[in-house]
Order: sequence, then structure tokens, then C-alpha cells
Amino acid sequence: MKLNDDIIEKLSNIESLIARGELKEAPENEPERQYYFMAKLRDYVNQKKKELGRDLYACTKTFGCQMNARDSEKLVGILNLIGYKETDSEKADFVIYNTCTVRENANLKVYGHLGLLSNYKKKNPEMKIAMCGCMMQEAHVVEKIKKSYRFVDVVFGTHNIYKFAELLYMRIVKNAMIIDIWEDTTKIVEELPLERKFSFKSGVNIMFGCNNFCSYCIVPYVRGRERSRNPKDIINEIKMLSEDGVVEIMLLGQNVNSYGKNLEEPMSFAKLLEEIEKIDGIERIRFMTSHPKDLSDELIEVMAKSKKICRQLHLPVQSGSSRILKEMNRRYDKEHYLNLVDKIKKAMPDISLTTDIIVGFPGESEEDFLETMDVVKKVRYDSAFTFIYSKRTGTPAAAMENQIPEDVVKDRFNRLLEEVQKIANEQTVRFEGEVQPALVEELNGHIEGYVTGRLSSGLLVHFPGNEQLIGKIVDVRLNEAKGFYYMGEMA
Ligand code: SAH
Ligand code: SF4
Ligand code: F3S
Repeated sequence: MKLNDDIIEKLSNIESLIARGELKEAPENEPERQYYFMAKLRDYVNQKKKELGRDLYACTKTFGCQMNARDSEKLVGILNLIGYKETDSEKADFVIYNTCTVRENANLKVYGHLGLLSNYKKKNPEMKIAMCGCMMQEAHVVEKIKKSYRFVDVVFGTHNIYKFAELLYMRIVKNAMIIDIWEDTTKIVEELPLERKFSFKSGVNIMFGCNNFCSYCIVPYVRGRERSRNPKDIINEIKMLSEDGVVEIMLLGQNVNSYGKNLEEPMSFAKLLEEIEKIDGIERIRFMTSHPKDLSDELIEVMAKSKKICRQLHLPVQSGSSRILKEMNRRYDKEHYLNLVDKIKKAMPDISLTTDIIVGFPGESEEDFLETMDVVKKVRYDSAFTFIYSKRTGTPAAAMENQIPEDVVKDRFNRLLEEVQKIANEQTVRFEGEVQPALVEELNGHIEGYVTGRLSSGLLVHFPGNEQLIGKIVDVRLNEAKGFYYMGEMA
């Protein structure tokens, strides 16, 4: 990848300085400091390979959202650069878990996996285990690892991911468990290697953290305060991605609509989109997530006239009840949300709207729940992620009285899911028979001779095709709507 060429050059410079004895200590400045540790680790991996007479393998597991996945690409980039080969198997020489803690079950999954790893490690003395990501930002988790999972080698959080090489090197030199968790940061370290999962599409962070403190949500506590990346850095990254063959980008942030508010020279998200639209080679722009309280008329205007911004908007409603929304600290009500949706649909009649909904927030009554059902019926989402409320220690909602009994929540959840699916089915039918451009993402895993493409709406279409189409945008006739996807043929 072109994106890494620059970094490889800088790394070789540092390597020759070390070899000539002109660089005896790690530089203070970032990212040079990390290149120094990468060079040291490269040496280490090479030696190990010679010792063992085989390659070393590393496995990176992502448990969380798209931002988490993007962080994993940074970890993989560093691991590749220092000489590990990638593998999906957790029976590797190095395993790193990039964790999520947004809901309790995300959390439990990690502990389940860790149990397995301890057995693998007993069989492979070379094996090293690292844990990072959102779960590690919670003090009680780190305590538990220190006490009950002593075989873990390195633990770090969401703010110091860029220090991965340094921490791994420390582990090797000191031969003890290394734990480095930061409360928060104002730092954004650019120019580190990364390895994209797909050659033709990529996520791009535009901001980190969150300032909204929705009362149920742990993200602001584990991701820290909102920080926007400099627009120049974002544009440069996207230009390089485009030169590297990327045609679709997904701009990432917990609340992209508040992008740029705390920059030295403030810039709106809509303006940023206009700048990105000008970049040659980028054909499609997506973004997530949009907070309904901050979605501006300017953004709707820019989207409506754009040739590249996809006709999809993820607009999490969380609840349809204005009373619950207030308790959730979402800072909009049902009426505001529905008005916003009307405005968006007027400007873009073909827009595909998706959402997140929480069922069973403390104090949610049957009437509150019916308000949510009402919003679902009125908005008619193309798809909706539905979640059962999960109590997160340290959030205001966890201390609220009136937690809802499980059977009541399950019943509401099932009713909601049924409605969401019925509407999603009906929604997909509206494009049946049309010809639409699709970006071919992969060979179809189930039907031989078929490929899978993604439409502007975000929905998938399966159609006859071969490997050569992967990464290309082609016109596809949507012959048959199948609920969450289409069967089609190239037009
Ligand atoms: N920043 C995004 C959401 C990030 S978390 C936004 O504000 O829309 C993704 C989704 O997880 C949220 O939209 C919410 O629906 C869900 N979620 C967050 N905390 C939760 C909790 N404690 N219980 C259940 N679902 C939760
Ligand atoms: Fe969580 Fe709310 Fe921030 Fe989204 S906006 S990450 S739901 S606190
Ligand atoms: Fe999970 Fe952290 Fe994302 S808690 S949802 S991985 S920001």
C-alpha cells in the first residue's frame, strides 16, 4: 500500500541510524519514537524467526464498532511492519483483543475468549497476549485482569494505541505484565502504519471521543472528550487512499455532526464533506454516526446536491418517547426527530434511513414503548439495530430506579423487531426492478459464480460475476427484493 511507503522509508532511516550506533535511545518526538521501537521489534522478530526456524503469526480480534475496527487496522499495520504474518487463528504467537464495552454481552464475550487463550498459551511458550480498546478504560476490568488473568502480557487503552510498539517492546525487555491506561488525551498522533481490510474501501477517523453523555452510554467515559482531526490531515489521508485504489470512504466519529467545533479554525461537517467531495478518485462517501440534535440544514443541502455522498443516513433515535429521550439526555424530542426526518425525505426522497433503538431503558412504560413503535411506523427505516438496554457501571442510568424486568423487555423487544423487519421488507421492495450502481465487495460465499455488491443505500445485492469485478462500481438490475438484500444481474 502506498500509504505505508513513506513510513517504511522513515523506518529504514531509523534502522540505519541504530545500526551505525548513531541512535542509542528512543527519540522524544512522535511518531519517530514509535518508529524506533518498531525497528527494535523488527530485530526481535527476525531473531525469533531464526531461533525457531519458522514464521511468527499474529492474530488481531476486533470486538467493537467501526472505530474499533479502524483501530485494529492500525494494530495490524504495526504487526505487519515488525514482521508478524497475519492469521485468523487464536493459536498464534501473538494475539491481541481490541475490546468493546458498550453492552454487557460485548464484555462477557471477551472473558470467554480469554479462557481459551490461557490453554493455547500453555502449549506455546512463545505466545504473547495483549488487550486494548474500550473495556480496558474501565478500572474494574484492569483489576480483574491483574488478578485473574495473569497470563496477559500487555494491557493498554483507547488513548495510547499509537504506543503499541513501545509497550510491546517494554514487555519483551522487562519480561513482566505491562499496563498503560490513560484517563484521557488531547493528543492525535498521525503517520503510523495501517493495514486496510479492503483494498477499495476504507474508514477514515474524523474525530475521536464523545461529549454527549447520553445517560445510558459508557462511550464518553472510555473514549474521552471529543477531538476533531485537522481537516488537512483528513484530506491528505483520503487523497493517499484514493491514490492507493480506494473508491469508497466511511467518515467515522461518535457524532460527526459536531465535527470541527473545537478546532482552532472551526469548520462544519458539511464544509468538510464539500472538501472531500472534490478529491478525484473517491466515488462514494459515507459517514456515521449522526446525532439528531446536531444535524444541520446545511448538511442536508450538501448531501442533496452531492454526487458522491451515499443515499444513506444512520440517525439513531434510541427512543420515540420524548419523556424517555429527556431521561436519556439525548437533547431532542419526538417532534424534533420526526420533523428532521421529514426535512431529509423532502430533500432526498430516495434516502435510506437506518437507526439504533434501545428497549427497556429504566422507567420505560408501555406508553413510552408505543411511542417508539409509532416513530418506527412513521419513519419507515430500511433497517434498524435494536438493543436491549444494558446497565453500564458508572453511567447515570445505571443508578436510576425502575429498571425494567427482563420478561417485559423481551416482549417489547420481540414486538419491535417484528415491526422493524416487516417495514424493512416493504422498504426494499420499493427499488425492485431499478438499475443502481453497486460497489462489488467480494465473491459470494454461498452461491458459486456470484459476487456481492453494496448499493448507495447500504443494502447488498448478489448477482452473477467474477473476481475481476471486486472493487469496481457496476450497474446492477435489482430483480428481486429479499428483505435485507436483493438478487440481481449486471445491467
Ligand atoms: N454515537 C452513536 C452511538 C454509539 S454506540 C450515537 O450516538 O448514535 C451504538 C449504539 O449502541 C447506540 O446508538 C445505542 O443504541 C446502543 N447502546 C449504547 N449504550 C447502550 C446500553 N447501555 N444499552 C443498550 N444499548 C446501548
Ligand atoms: Fe454514546 Fe450518546 Fe456519545 Fe453516542 S452520542 S457515543 S450514544 S454518549
Ligand atoms: Fe464499543 Fe468502544 Fe465502539 S465501547 S461500540 S468499541 S467506541
